[in-house]
Amino acid sequence: MNYGHFDDKNREYVITNPKTPYPWINYLGNDDFFSLTSNTAGGYTFYKDAKFRRLTRYRYNNIPIDNGGKYFYIKDGGTTWSPGWKPVKTELDHYECRHGMSYTKFKSSKNELEAEVVQFIPIGFWGEIQKVSLKNTSSVKKDIKLFSFIEWCLWNAEDDMTNFQRNFSTGEVEVKDSVIYHKTEFKERRNHYAFYSVNETIQGFDTDRETFLGLYNDLDKPDVVGEGHSKNSLAHGWSPIASHYLEIELPPGAEKELIFMLGYVEVEKDQKWESKLVINKQPAQKMISAFDTTEKVDRALEELRIYWDNLLGKVSIKSKDPRLDRMVNIWNQYQCMVTFNMSRSASFFESGIGRGMGFRDSNQDLIGFVHQIPERARERIVDIASTQFEDGSCYHQYQPLTKKGNAAVGGNFNDDPLWLILSTTAYIKETGDYSLLEEMVPFDNDASRAKPHFEHLKASFYHVVENLGPHKLPLIGRADWNDCLNLNCFSEDPNESFQTTENEKGGVAESLMIAGLFVVYGKEHVKLCRQIGKDKEADEAQLYVEAMIDAVEEHGWDGEWYLRAYDHFGKKIGTSENEEGKIFIESQGWCSMAEIGKDKGMVEKSLNAVKEHLDCDYGIVLNYPAFTKYYIEYGEISTYPAGYKENGGIFCHNNPWIMIAETQLGRGDRAFEYYSKIAPSYLEDLSELHKVEPYVYCQMIAGKEANKPGEAKNSWLSGTASWNFYAITQYILGIRPDYQGLIIDPCIPKAWDGFRMIRTFREATYDIDISNPDHVSKGIKQIFVNGNPLEGNLIPLLAKGKVHQIKVVMG
Ligand code: BGC
Ligand code: NOJ
Repeated sequence: MNYGHFDDKNREYVITNPKTPYPWINYLGNDDFFSLTSNTAGGYTFYKDAKFRRLTRYRYNNIPIDNGGKYFYIKDGGTTWSPGWKPVKTELDHYECRHGMSYTKFKSSKNELEAEVVQFIPIGFWGEIQKVSLKNTSSVKKDIKLFSFIEWCLWNAEDDMTNFQRNFSTGEVEVKDSVIYHKTEFKERRNHYAFYSVNETIQGFDTDRETFLGLYNDLDKPDVVGEGHSKNSLAHGWSPIASHYLEIELPPGAEKELIFMLGYVEVEKDQKWESKLVINKQPAQKMISAFDTTEKVDRALEELRIYWDNLLGKVSIKSKDPRLDRMVNIWNQYQCMVTFNMSRSASFFESGIGRGMGFRDSNQDLIGFVHQIPERARERIVDIASTQFEDGSCYHQYQPLTKKGNAAVGGNFNDDPLWLILSTTAYIKETGDYSLLEEMVPFDNDASRAKPHFEHLKASFYHVVENLGPHKLPLIGRADWNDCLNLNCFSEDPNESFQTTENEKGGVAESLMIAGLFVVYGKEHVKLCRQIGKDKEADEAQLYVEAMIDAVEEHGWDGEWYLRAYDHFGKKIGTSENEEGKIFIESQGWCSMAEIGKDKGMVEKSLNAVKEHLDCDYGIVLNYPAFTKYYIEYGEISTYPAGYKENGGIFCHNNPWIMIAETQLGRGDRAFEYYSKIAPSYLEDLSELHKVEPYVYCQMIAGKEANKPGEAKNSWLSGTASWNFYAITQYILGIRPDYQGLIIDPCIPKAWDGFRMIRTFREATYDIDISNPDHVSKGIKQIFVNGNPLEGNLIPLLAKGKVHQIKVVMG
């Protein structure tokens, strides 16, 4: 069963049934100010940091699941309804929720009254706009009562949901004209407030939640709405809200447009007050007047559309498969922007208070984003690198507001440093901007300890070299990419977290995944050193890479596949000798991508083993057989029920590693089969089982040993977005930026006749037409650049500002 459909022309997913199997959400905002919004208007807003600057309240794991948001109540005669269906849940005559690029549009009708609500955040603006239109399509006059509703969060989202002894006494608001101001803690250390306005004279308002709702009511039946007029309540403590009340007369055929704004204001310390305890409203007024007419709002919406035209125009394809085109051209790129902005902080599965920007996560997110806004990618790389230590180790995360690293989700993950080489080299290949390597970047956020960024890469590389175990393989530390493979943890206490609990001294447990990762990014490091003339550095590094290859060949091979690790006692993990967890995806992916032992057939065997043991109908599972009991020496991985998360789940982030490795072997059919198994647009018809949005990737799909294989969780914020974009565009479609130009190296299903990609690269446009007359997966017969034959498959840098015709014949 489908709950909607793709509208590719408008770049929207159109939900036509509000009762989706899970809330299907969208993100508004692109730089500092963000909102999450579900298909029934649930969600919340924050400035920069979902934990420290939460503007509106949201209760996670609520009953029902998505309760609370930015709601409208329309009272038309005896019928009350909401344009987003919730919270009132009156059966609508028509319901439509269009999630588009940074905006969401609700279009509904009831009893010949049409309502449209468009929510978005103008570019560079610290406020969300809700454009509300009401139209009377009946032949009689209607007297409509409209109530808005949001609930303020007292800024720090974590404190807001725990510290009630204080918070129930701190809430403060002001109301002036049609604007409701939220100023809790403004009189102490906060130099910011929020406001909710409408561009029309209101007939009343409420700011006290219990007055508006009634203590015993749910959001679907507020007292005020029932009684048909607001009570002009002023909140003092308890739970401040903002609700406007408007009476609207609509003759037959008449239409009314209103502009609501939820804004955030920061003021200078000496500019806070207008008079005693009365806040300075000037900055808010300025924001309101910037969007007080429909024309101004429509212009901003149009700017947003153009903004996305530009961003998405940088890579676009035309194939014969609309499901593929819409992933590459629209949704996968969109999700890459969202993960770039959010890291793993705020979604309907990440509460906004748990995790900030992850070191490894944000580095990886960049490979799907760097072509969109390279300047922001560069800034991000510097922010991340600034949280590193001189020995290459790093904080696992930092908060976006302060940009300072912290240990709240642990540290000592020995894969972390290497991802900085991935992001940096991806950035330079995309832009040609080597100056990043010279930028002075602090260690541990301490400017006095700054060194050129290149030294950070070197520190990353040598962090592995200096942390080898008994088999000369990388020590795993707390864990590698797999947060749940906690080999030095030995936790017996259910009250401690696997992420932060103190580890045993670990000088034995080694990771084959880091070994493969080191060979891949070690080679990249060597290549970069050569690019910038550091040949001595390159020669030295090369020796360490070769030594690692030898160590894997000697100690990392199980006969049919690569081992996963050695545990704290030096015992093998991921071997056919074990009863459970015989084979793991991560080391197959990385050691295969590193091509370790390729000449000895190891890569081919490893990938065949993946097909045989890990692949299933819904994707490639992480390990097999999944663990069915708790192994104290393995840690969190064995806490999950079989088939879920890191224990036998289809962890979509790592499937592209296998896709890429398959393309390196030339097996395009298999690579694409893996791609289409987890790409959301291919799963649309499975929505009932899959549950989460059919337009974005999720982190995990339940694996073959799970209770409900194919059921997905944790949509949106996952490295899955960038890795899949990277795998499909750069390895399957095979158009890959490199230091000196664009590499053309497709590896596609044999049945394909070809495809076309338009790629902006270093300010030139490459219009690449690929034909496949011999129906091969890989291999190039001839390339023509603007009509001239080219030797090899590297298209050199071509004149900027021009469109270049590239004809590629495979064979
Ligand atoms: C999850 C991981 C996650 C980690 C971070 C674990 O419980 O399984 O996927 O990265 O928590 O806190
Ligand atoms: C989610 C985390 O965000 C990511 O860093 C990690 O690699 C995966 N879980 C796998 O454990």
